[in-house]
Amino acid sequence: MKVVSVEIRNFRNHTDTTLECGGGLNVLVGNNGEGKTNVVEAISYLSLTKSFYAASDAVVLQVGRDEFALKGDFSGDTGVRRHVEVRYRRDTARKTFLVDHTAAESLASVVGEFPVVVLSPEQTGITMGAPTERRRFLDLVIAQASKTYLQDLLEYRRILRQRNKILLDARIQRREPGDALEPWNKSLVETGSALMERRAAFFASFKDALERAYRTLAGNEEHPGADYVPSFKVPSWSDPKEIRALFEDELRQHEDEERRTGATGVGPHRDDIEFTIGGISARKFASQGQHRTLLVALKIAEFDYLKRQKGETPILLLDDVFGELDGHRSERLLEEAQTLGQVFVTTTDLRSFPRGLVPGEKTKVFEVEGGTVMEGVH
Ligand SMILES: Nc1ncnc2c1ncn2[C@@H]1O[C@H](COP(=O)(O)OP(=O)(O)O)[C@@H](O)[C@H]1O
Ligand SMILES: [Mg+2]
Repeated sequence: MKVVSVEIRNFRNHTDTTLECGGGLNVLVGNNGEGKTNVVEAISYLSLTKSFYAASDAVVLQVGRDEFALKGDFSGDTGVRRHVEVRYRRDTARKTFLVDHTAAESLASVVGEFPVVVLSPEQTGITMGAPTERRRFLDLVIAQASKTYLQDLLEYRRILRQRNKILLDARIQRREPGDALEPWNKSLVETGSALMERRAAFFASFKDALERAYRTLAGNEEHPGADYVPSFKVPSWSDPKEIRALFEDELRQHEDEERRTGATGVGPHRDDIEFTIGGISARKFASQGQHRTLLVALKIAEFDYLKRQKGETPILLLDDVFGELDGHRSERLLEEAQTLGQVFVTTTDLRSFPRGLVPGEKTKVFEVEGGTVMEGVH
């Protein structure tokens, strides 16, 4: 899939920006604060139906405006043209998506239609930060690949909210939650187990992709790993009944704790991922450089995974990554990225950019200044 053109109105510092994109490499160059990341954010917004920064819609709306609009023309791998647009109004705080000029029935129906992979410095938390950031990564990848997963995820969150409310109310009123929990336990176990199975299956194929990507960037000396660490031990994923029985058992074991804390103590909302390099924990022991390489490799692996699952090439959005990597690894990344498909990269300085960048048919350079975008370097 490729972005053919994007229109950005009243979004962040872009009042009226149109980009006619190149089919290969698109470089956005400009000083800090001029609006490069905002372009990347706009493209990913159309795909993910929200900001990858997790900024609210009211925050991305240009200061002093009542409405923002984004439009994208896309072209699928087979050449089929797709169109997506979103409008957000401040007064109603609502956004509406049109896909191929028809109102989308839900945001979830849009996610995955225009697959993207975003790499930005904010995402260092995936390898370095708290488990929440790893779960967000996991959910965003799998949700783009599978609508069932996204539906289950939304349903699980709803169940979790209800169940936590019962636990919390009971705690505040100093009484036993009792039978009120029973139906929620059942649905928590059912939906939660489905999510866990999907996550486990994801890792089974993601590991190889991660190894390949890491090798491309760093050579053979370092060996990366990624393991799914569910909130309770699951010896085998082959028997769905067994997983559900284990989950039920865990819930029983957490009963006392849940009554004390007023929150659900076990389930996929407590899962984690352990990344390793050379067999040891990356979060604890990796160097800065290894963290960066791991993150880039994760994103290339994500790209690979999405492409295989969807049979459609994702759009790769690389925000501010070349300053972060050493020259050698940047060049490898850029070479690799160009073979993958359509890529958007941001940079403050074309000179710091890996050599071999020649604007032409497939490569376009855009200058970004004060929320305006012009093709070519001026
Ligand atoms: N909602 C908003 N309305 C107007 N301007 C905004 C809004 N959000 C961010 N900005 C402006 O966007 C600019 C940052 O753009 P960004 O794309 O992050 O820059 P960079 O080129 O460094 O990536 C800042 O000048 C900031 O004030
Ligand atoms: Mg930026």
